[in-house]
Amino acid sequence: MLTATAIRKSYAGVRALKGVSFDLAPGEVHALVGENGAGKSTLIKIITGAVRADDGALEVDDEAVDLARLTPARARELGIAVIYQQPALFPDLTVSENIALTLEHGGAWRRIDWRARTDRARDLLARAGAAFDPDRLAGSLSMPEQQIVEIARAIGAGARVILMDEPTASLTDREVDRLFDVVRTLRETGTGIIYISHRLDEVFTLADRVTILRDGETVMTAPRGAVTRDEVVRHMAGRELATVFPKRAVTPGAVALDVRGLTSTTAGVFDVSFTVRRGEILGLAGLVGSGRTELAELIFGLRRPDRGQILIDGQPVTIDRPADAIAAGLAYVPEDRRRHGVVLEMPIAANTSLANLAAVSRHGLVQASRERALAERFRQDLQIKASSVVANAGTLSGGNQQKVALARWLATAPAILILDEPTQGVDVGAKAEIHGVMQAMVERGMAVIMISSELPEILGMSDRIAVMREGTICAIVDRADATPERILALALARPAAEATA
Ligand SMILES: Nc1ncnc2c1ncn2[C@@H]1O[C@H](COP(=O)(O)OP(=O)(O)OP(=O)(O)O)[C@@H](O)[C@H]1O
Ligand SMILES: [Mg+2]
Repeated sequence: MLTATAIRKSYAGVRALKGVSFDLAPGEVHALVGENGAGKSTLIKIITGAVRADDGALEVDDEAVDLARLTPARARELGIAVIYQQPALFPDLTVSENIALTLEHGGAWRRIDWRARTDRARDLLARAGAAFDPDRLAGSLSMPEQQIVEIARAIGAGARVILMDEPTASLTDREVDRLFDVVRTLRETGTGIIYISHRLDEVFTLADRVTILRDGETVMTAPRGAVTRDEVVRHMAGRELATVFPKRAVTPGAVALDVRGLTSTTAGVFDVSFTVRRGEILGLAGLVGSGRTELAELIFGLRRPDRGQILIDGQPVTIDRPADAIAAGLAYVPEDRRRHGVVLEMPIAANTSLANLAAVSRHGLVQASRERALAERFRQDLQIKASSVVANAGTLSGGNQQKVALARWLATAPAILILDEPTQGVDVGAKAEIHGVMQAMVERGMAVIMISSELPEILGMSDRIAVMREGTICAIVDRADATPERILALALARPAAEATA
């Protein structure tokens, strides 16, 4: 139903796609995998008309589409829809209004049939596998619910080709399962789905075929059963990769951070107490919405607590603003790198030194050569794929932006580092690099708090695991006693036996 042939695209000197071919059959889930910067998002943007190809051909239902004139509106007419990782809904409108916005056409004075709108929204949501109230405000929905609304919209618009670019990056395992059910339902009705993900387990659960991109070229396309996971990883990287967790035992030092009774009603965090020692990685597990990010924001001074105390190296500290936190030796790498992580209009080098200008300055002036040298070091350590460190961060692929956000805070060599989903959207090879850097940091005495929704990462890297549920820490489990079942059961507040079923 869709064939892309020999697609080429260059951005000012970067050859993002060097002649990629790709096709999609009705009722097929076709996974697109590759390292950060391989060209996956670029291909999707070309098919949806968001970015213009330099060269190549596209056919939809055996009809040639003029790629030089493809616009997002034309792509929608052709039945192509894209589900973004961060859905673009209007938070102050209801679900049915959000759906109606894209589906209803007509003048400003037409009469609105509210009942029909709601019924239609309910019907579309049901077809997308959900049963929540269409009168709810979009802003009150969880991320996966918002994605379902996007899918309902796509179904309503008659989309037969649905593209998903890392749809599960910010979902937990349970939410992923639900999304998979929706994808399977869509497949049964003959919809073709292009699915991009760095989580290879998902690819092997869901995809009928897999296409691997490397450096803007198609390396192979194969039915799922014809390749193994290791082969996929090898083809993605073009080399053998370590994908295991580089965890080594570190003798923990003194308590670096001591949080006592931290509470903020507005943040939804209640009476949280825990400690982290030097040399220790404390994993923060829990469902999306359990308060993990809010807790991190409270500690870092992005939110104000109602009550509670924070001690650093045994001394009580007052953290009213992030500047206080940084002065006290804390650093925080947020999850949403697009909003808080990197400044897209600034070069990679300036992004890297942003939190640590003193280290690259002399007499109060930033020295470009030192700044570049610092950035260059992290580019190598974290394998950031960029034409040069003077290129703007906005020209990087999603995963490489994530690495720049991480580099900035690692460059400050903080005593205590809080990482929110540090390897989200990062490819398997880079993931191992980031874990390796984390391990090196704790060996030098850093204390790390790592929020992650990926259980293997939590279990693989943490010395202790604090499980959050409904805004509070419900248990802290030692590495030796942690099993996936136990952590999941704690996060869900269900008996372990039930959670594994
Ligand atoms: N606007 C842009 N300007 C310059 N270069 C760009 C731009 N957008 C993408 N690129 C480059 O094109 C290449 C492919 O990027 P793309 O975003 O398609 O990668 P990706 O496979 O989606 O990676 P990821 O897994 O990290 O999301 C990268 O080298 C990237 O730096
Ligand atoms: Mg991408």
